[in-house]
Amino acid sequence: MSTIKRDGFGSRFGVLVAVAGSAVGLGNLWRFPYMVGTNGGAAFIIVYLAFVIVLCLPIMFSEFVIGRRTQSNAFGAISKIAPRSGWLTIGVISVVASICIMSFYSVVGGWTLDYIFKSFSSSFLTSDSSSLSSQFSGFTESSFVPVIMHLLFLAISALIVVAGVKNGIEKYSKILMPVLFILVVILAIRSLTLDGAMEGVKFLLYPDFSKITGDTLLAALGQAFFSLSLGMGCIITYGSYVNKKENLFKISFSVAAADTGFAILAGLAVVPAVFAFGIPPGQGPSLVFITLPQIFAQLPFGNVISIAFFFILMIAALTSAISLLEVVVAYFTEELKMTRKVAVVVTFVIIGIFGTFSSLSQGVLKDFTLFGKSIFDLFDYTSSNILLPVGGLLVVLFVGWRVKRADVLDELTSGGTVALRKSLFTGIMLVIKFLAPIAISIVLINSLI
Ligand code: TRP
Repeated sequence: MSTIKRDGFGSRFGVLVAVAGSAVGLGNLWRFPYMVGTNGGAAFIIVYLAFVIVLCLPIMFSEFVIGRRTQSNAFGAISKIAPRSGWLTIGVISVVASICIMSFYSVVGGWTLDYIFKSFSSSFLTSDSSSLSSQFSGFTESSFVPVIMHLLFLAISALIVVAGVKNGIEKYSKILMPVLFILVVILAIRSLTLDGAMEGVKFLLYPDFSKITGDTLLAALGQAFFSLSLGMGCIITYGSYVNKKENLFKISFSVAAADTGFAILAGLAVVPAVFAFGIPPGQGPSLVFITLPQIFAQLPFGNVISIAFFFILMIAALTSAISLLEVVVAYFTEELKMTRKVAVVVTFVIIGIFGTFSSLSQGVLKDFTLFGKSIFDLFDYTSSNILLPVGGLLVVLFVGWRVKRADVLDELTSGGTVALRKSLFTGIMLVIKFLAPIAISIVLINSLI
């Protein structure tokens, strides 16, 4: 059992910071704005919010229930309740999905690292979109520096996981996350007050539901899972460290609210500026990196704000990366009986190699595609749009149909200490047993055909 994480969960606030730290990351500040841009704005946001409330919250309860009930990592948790059964697929998906996600997450983590350094140069902040655009592609398409940055980001994450200074990181997160929040609020205000921002506001507010296709629904579902760290045992693992007395509802609601708040704010900071600067909103992964420097250029002390922003963004990415690595490392140590150090080294090597390919697929390996997608996109698409939804589907089915109903009630009421109306519990169980599995299946199947 990883003793490192158990340390940090003495208090309710510790739990909240750790789970929120896992949830809030590049998913909110980098991925959400560009998904909104690619998938048609307001309509995507509405579907996203509906998925968070109707599907993600019950899945989060479910993952917490499994984790706290069994007190083990994702794989061990499932095998405790249903030994040697097909349910272990959930455990397999956890490990595969974390490796897939880290193989592009760490690359983007490397980009933020590089943008901290770039922020020191006064020529970095310009109002010239095309220069920022070529600056970004020139950097990401090159072979050497982005790979080094990816390995550096991964190494820092791995060191934290092995050395167990997670508590230290959590201490800093408690201070830095509110600072990040304030910075994003400042960016949102600046962005909303730019000339030409109104077009972006309209894009964010007036839904055009004709833009919603099967693929958009799946993209929104995948984004919701990705942003809330659901569908691959992350919350199961963290749930196993939660004190028996804690109210799982409160934790889930607070985390979902904080995470969604960050995402919406990031949308408000980026999208109006995108329209004001005449950047095509459907850019993809480069969107935030091209837009933000232009907003910084319009602010007093732009360089300082830029340095602070990318630095804290990198910390936010680190606290998420740790939670992803932890799933793999916990599996290697507990199921394959490796020592923690060996497990971390093996994980580092695997993700280091995959991540290198995914970084190079922005440049020299651009033409190497599978199903029409580059390696980077393939890792991203497979994890968010296939592995996480399938993992989430299996988790709700598991809790709805395999875990004893009395055990679920016991966890949700924290052993009877938290009041829970009978009708509410019945409602939650109906969602977990029927609504969530059916809805996820429809979205998955609808997009596949
Ligand atoms: N939620 C994180 C983000 O938004 C990424 C992340 C961490 C994640 N752990 C996860 C995504 C588990 C899916 C599953 O940046």
